[in-house]
Parts: sequence; C-alpha cells; structure tokens
Amino acid sequence: MIKKCLFPAAGYGTRFLPATKSMPKEMMPIVNKPLIEFGVDEALEAGMTGMCIVTGRGKHSLMDHFDLNYELEHQISGTAKEDKLKDIRSIMESASFTFIRQREMKGLGHAILTGKQLVGDEPFAVVLADDMCVKDGADDGVLAQMVALYNQFRCSIVAVEEVPDEETHKYGVIKGEMIKDDIFRVDDMVEKPEPGTAPSNMAIIGRYILTPDIFDILEETAPGKGGEIQITDALLQQAKSGCVLAYKFKGKRFDCGSVPGYIEATNFVYDNMYEE
Ligand code: G1P
Repeated sequence: MIKKCLFPAAGYGTRFLPATKSMPKEMMPIVNKPLIEFGVDEALEAGMTGMCIVTGRGKHSLMDHFDLNYELEHQISGTAKEDKLKDIRSIMESASFTFIRQREMKGLGHAILTGKQLVGDEPFAVVLADDMCVKDGADDGVLAQMVALYNQFRCSIVAVEEVPDEETHKYGVIKGEMIKDDIFRVDDMVEKPEPGTAPSNMAIIGRYILTPDIFDILEETAPGKGGEIQITDALLQQAKSGCVLAYKFKGKRFDCGSVPGYIEATNFVYDNMYEE
C-alpha cells in the first residue's frame, strides 16, 4: 500500500513574480483553492494519508494552510460562511502533514532526497503541485490510476503525456516499449533534451510513484542538466538495473507553472468544479 505522498514545494515560482515574492507558488489559488490542495485531494483519493511537504524559506503559509486558524474558526462559527471551510477541515481530519526544509535549491532529485526522512523505507508518490490534474471524464484521478498500476507491477512509475515536438525541451522525456495499452517499459529517459534530440514526445508530468531504493540512487546521482540533481537521471539508473514504467494517464493536466496553463486551469475549474 502506498500511504505517503511527497510534495516538493521549495521552488521560487519566478514565472509568477511579483505574486510569488512572498507567497509560495503552491499557494496560488485556482479560483478559491490553492494549487497544493488540489494535489492533496488527489493523493487522498488515491488512499494516501501521509502528506510530506518539502518546503523552503518563506513558505510558512503552506504549513498554516493545513493547520487550524482559531481566530477565523471562532469568527465564522455558526455563520453561513462556515461552509467554505468544509473541504479543508475534512482534509485536516483525514491526513497528517509533515514538513522538512530544503536549504539549497539543487534540483528535483535533491528535493526528493531531502524528503527521505519523512518518507522512510517504503514506496511513495510524488506530486509536483504546479502540474494540476483533473479527471475530465476519467473514473479515477491520476495518482489513483498509478497506484492501481503499482499494485500490479511493484516498480517505479512516471506519468507521461504526449507533447508537441517543439515542447519536449521543457520536460523529462522517455523512450520505452509498450507492454500493454498506455503502459511502457522505460529504456531511456532524458531531462530537457535539446530541441530536435528528444527520444520521443512522451513527456514526464509531475506525478511519480517511487520505490525507496531511489534514495540510495539519488545519493550517488551527480548533478546533470542545469547543474542540478535530476530525478530523471536517478530513474534511468533504476530502469537500467530493474524496471521503471511510464504510464499514459487518463485525464487532463494543466501546466500551472506557466501563465497560459494557470489561466486555462482557472477557467476549467470555474466552469466545471466551482460551487458558489
Ligand atoms: C520537472 C522534471 C521534469 C518533468 C517536469 C514535469 O521539471 O525535472 O523531468 O518533466 O518537472 O512538470 P521542472 O518543470 O521542475 O523544470
């Protein structure tokens, strides 16, 4: 069973400056709900109850969001507005939250390694909150689909999506052999390949299931693309010595780390999910 979900959330969110100067990018609202809460909802739906958040300096509001706010509770207790806290209260009752600080920004692989003390020696999920996923007709959320796959194959899994050739340089890109509908055994993966050199157009999006041996591999992983420790490089190592799967998920993903993706997600949520 996968019980824990790791949220690397130490990044600066420079594309949204000045909004993210003193506010974590994970707290940017999609209509009235912060991005990170969408990720937590998805993890809860997939049966995870331990939310492990890797934060950085100036990210206190992430912790406060998942804690009680006595003044507010007192103020709106018994009023109609109380209903607005229903969802977050239910999250707080269902999940536990632990936090660790990443002191230096040394890449996604380093952020995941920083979470080792919170995760321990068990398989876990990773959610990059700025990739926001919605079901859009699918029965389950992306993480729930990946957990079902993990229960079958018991190895690390990355979620992938086909992207246009001119966008492959923004992502980790996999190459693999299709072993079943929408499931690939990874034999190569490259972090942000130079234009025209990508091994395919299957881009990794911010959902992973990782087996805990990834931590030992990450300890040994040298800085790669951009001088950062890349989870993509560690996963390639794991794929070479064992098995890593790539899964073309059902549902819709918004790149909320970019302004157009953020606006698209906002419109989608307002039209399809928001209740007054
Ligand atoms: C990270 C990963 C990349 C992946 C992407 C998904 O990159 O390094 O492999 O494709 O997330 O969003 P970032 O977007 O943090 O630069």
